[in-house]
Amino acid sequence: MAKTCVKAQVIEQNTIAGDVFALIVAAPEIAAIARPGQFVHLRLADTLDPLLRRPFSIADCNAEQGTLTVIYRVVGRGTVLMTKLQAGDIIDCMGPLGKGFDLTAQRPLLIGGGMGLAPLVMLAKAFCSRPATILMGGRNEQELFWPEIYAGVCQNIHITTDDGSIGHRGFTVDLLPELLKQDKFDRIYACGPHAMLKGVAETAAYYGVPCQVSLEEYMACGVGACLSCTCAGASGKRHKVCTDGPVFWAEEVAW
Ligand SMILES: Cc1cc2nc3c(=O)[nH]c(=O)nc-3n(C[C@H](O)[C@H](O)[C@H](O)COP(=O)(O)OP(=O)(O)OC[C@H]3O[C@@H](n4cnc5c(N)ncnc54)[C@H](O)[C@@H]3O)c2cc1C
Ligand code: FES
Repeated sequence: MAKTCVKAQVIEQNTIAGDVFALIVAAPEIAAIARPGQFVHLRLADTLDPLLRRPFSIADCNAEQGTLTVIYRVVGRGTVLMTKLQAGDIIDCMGPLGKGFDLTAQRPLLIGGGMGLAPLVMLAKAFCSRPATILMGGRNEQELFWPEIYAGVCQNIHITTDDGSIGHRGFTVDLLPELLKQDKFDRIYACGPHAMLKGVAETAAYYGVPCQVSLEEYMACGVGACLSCTCAGASGKRHKVCTDGPVFWAEEVAW
């Protein structure tokens, strides 16, 4: 897969909710070839601190305007630095990296938990005329700012929260069997915490629906050279999440 390393100019940065931000950068070379599920590896400063790049899913991409959007939550040093970026600033952006989602579904069901909902925005848009349904989960109503983002791109939106403050009380995997009984989905695409992905993979297998999951592991190089991101594969072989994934068929992963 072609990838490139560019100096990307920040177009704008907006607060989405609390500690979650949307960063839009100009990176036409990457935007021209990016696919849903791929990610960019960002170097945030010219200094050696932080030393490593930080990986972020491409949440949206406009090939005509040459822009990429990442939606991120503030976690530590790197993401705190990201919040300081302003229009006109330059960051180092490597991408698009990794393997993206299979786009052949006719009746896709997208399932996202927490920040796992970020890469599914671009995926939902890719289905355009095909009726995508999304099942989204979070801890509480404050975390569930996503319906507004998905309103124009998904036909049906189902919500769960751990505390029941909005939508169904419980986890996405609790509601999943009901959705699979109601509708004939031909593909499930999931991104979120490992426990959620495991539950989705098991439920999808039970109902016989092919399922892809996007995994997250700590990454250093992002290009398959350092082995810091490996996860156990079902065949016994270890996968590099940065280059073999981050998107895998559920049965490729040893849960
Ligand atoms: C393929 C991929 C896509 C991602 N997409 C998104 C996204 O769209 N939005 C978003 O908010 N976050 C995303 N993340 C997680 C994001 O990379 C981390 O939150 C971020 O690197 C934290 O950096 P920090 O310096 O603020 O935190 P620190 O905790 O200071 O980071 C220290 C080190 O740990 C790594 N690290 C910390 N948390 C994670 C994590 N959850 N996953 C992987 N590495 C981590 C950092 O990269 C860094 O090397 C993604 C991670 C991966 C692997
Ligand atoms: S991050 Fe180096 S091999 Fe994946």
